[in-house]
Amino acid sequence: MNTTAVIYKSRYGSTRRYASYIAQELGADLYSWEQIDAGQLLEYEKLVFGGGLYAGKMAGIGKIKKYLPQLWGKKMAAFTVGLTPCSDAGYYRQVDSHNFNSEMRAAIRVFHYSGNLEYDQLVFSHRLLIGLLRRGLQKKGSDDHTSADEGLLTALDRHEDCVDVDQTVELLTYMQE
Ligand SMILES: Cc1cc2nc3c(=O)[nH]c(=O)nc-3n(C[C@H](O)[C@H](O)[C@H](O)COP(=O)(O)O)c2cc1C
Repeated sequence: MNTTAVIYKSRYGSTRRYASYIAQELGADLYSWEQIDAGQLLEYEKLVFGGGLYAGKMAGIGKIKKYLPQLWGKKMAAFTVGLTPCSDAGYYRQVDSHNFNSEMRAAIRVFHYSGNLEYDQLVFSHRLLIGLLRRGLQKKGSDDHTSADEGLLTALDRHEDCVDVDQTVELLTYMQE
């Protein structure tokens, strides 16, 4: 068995692509959250957690929070995958504070990567949400949307796959130190 595990939650595949690459580069075992339990996690010395961003929340964060008390002392990193440009430092500060409390941040190094979204693949509830966001943005004078909403819609309209595994260099170096 390897000493490192990469565990991910991915709705449309972007996070899975990063997780597979990271696992390959680290010679780690790869699991989706559905495939692993706390007992198995404990067997590893190093853990990497990945999750897509949905309304500012990292997919799988609930499980990380739940298992963390048992994982102290292990080397851990986490990465989110979203469509808000990684240059939007203010947005990702919010993501950090919304998902990781100070205790978690002391134990887990967090990274953010850019993802992908194909409108045709979206489930009905997500299409509905995107439609609502779009209508909100189109409403003249509407100021109840955030720069993240704008980033999401702009990225959807660009039809650009922003997954780029080269962004993981820092995480890989950190985990290999
Ligand atoms: C309903 C919905 C909400 C989303 N919310 C966010 C968000 O809050 N911030 C963000 O940066 N990206 C957001 N995204 C974009 C996803 O994070 C992006 O498509 C990511 O690549 C998904 O990763 P996954 O396919 O591994 O689940 C959202 C996408 C959908 C469909």
